Amino acid sequence: MAQLEFNDVTKMYGDIVAVKDISLTISDNEFFCIFGPPSCGKTTLLRLLLGLVQQDTGSVLIGGKDVTEVGPQERDLAMVFQNLALFPHMTAYENLAFPLVERKVSKADIKARIGEVAETLHITPLLKKIPAHLSGGERQRVAIGRALVRDPAAFLMDEPIAALDARLREEMRVELKRLQRELNHTLVYVTHDQEEAMSIADRMAIMEDGRIRQVGTPDEIYNHPNGRYVAELIGSPPMNFIDGAFDGASKRFSAGDFEMSIGFEGVSASGAASIGVRPEDFRVTSGGGAEIEFDANVYEVEPLGGFTIVDCNIGEKVLKVQIPGQPTFELGQAIKLGFDSKRAHLFDGPSGDVLASAA
Ligand SMILES: Nc1ncnc2c1ncn2[C@@H]1O[C@H](COP(=O)(O)OP(=O)(O)O)[C@@H](O)[C@H]1O
Ligand SMILES: [Mg+2]
Repeated sequence: MAQLEFNDVTKMYGDIVAVKDISLTISDNEFFCIFGPPSCGKTTLLRLLLGLVQQDTGSVLIGGKDVTEVGPQERDLAMVFQNLALFPHMTAYENLAFPLVERKVSKADIKARIGEVAETLHITPLLKKIPAHLSGGERQRVAIGRALVRDPAAFLMDEPIAALDARLREEMRVELKRLQRELNHTLVYVTHDQEEAMSIADRMAIMEDGRIRQVGTPDEIYNHPNGRYVAELIGSPPMNFIDGAFDGASKRFSAGDFEMSIGFEGVSASGAASIGVRPEDFRVTSGGGAEIEFDANVYEVEPLGGFTIVDCNIGEKVLKVQIPGQPTFELGQAIKLGFDSKRAHLFDGPSGDVLASAA
């Protein structure tokens, strides 16, 4: 139950930048995800909060208090590590009890607290078992439970379900989201899975090479990525990009022999640029139904049950188009692809910064 804050924090390991110039405020009771590819600095941010490493410059605040001089034991954070470490010789119950025994909580209180947490995590029948007799998913729930039995200032979790199989991950992320709402505690959650971050977070930060590129709600990030890096990482299948040149005066975009008439509100400059359109924002039309239309050919069809991905050629380029249901297409079939300029994003060519985002 605390706000967590980084003020202009940098941490180097020799020449290696772990995190650089991080300023970030995580609100009280927020489910906050830190998302990014391996080695971008996610774990380092948690270690800085925990006090396991010390920043080179800047400050870290917990509940409004600068914790630079506060040791890890006194920071009152509960952590679930990436490589969860349960004590192998202890039962699930003893593992859960451990942090409370350490804090000299009475036996009766420990029993009551574990009872509650075990119910929420659906692990009551497992409490007498040792870790070797639990499945991966069950062990993970016990590890999460060991953090939850405490009443810390905040929970930190480092890719806590990354090692589980896909079905179990989907179940667990719903459970975690529900749990966090019930517990009403700040939860900082690290993941390299964009779908997990999008589905679970109140707000998220997207990192690249030790820096934060964008912070926002999943909705803001998905609909208004502030640059091509974020646009490419969030969404599956990813956003389509058409690289070319935009002429703001005549409102034309050209990419080789492919040209279209398209305007973006407030963009009058010209130069190298990319148009980005999400797969679900394309439509296959019979001609005349969409604001912007062009000829394409069906390259491959991926039926996925509830929706179908149609890979379409325009010249050499392949665009991914997502259509609801199970439409049928022939390979090579000539089609018309349409989209609305309001659903398109425009990115600056050299920097990748967003120039205009979808309405
Ligand atoms: N103890 C360490 N010694 C040297 N380099 C480290 C250490 N911890 C992390 N790093 C480096 O810092 C960068 C960020 O690491 P980390 O925060 O673990 O990234 P992530 O969790 O996103 O995969 C990486 O380049 C990593 O190799
Ligand atoms: Mg990590």
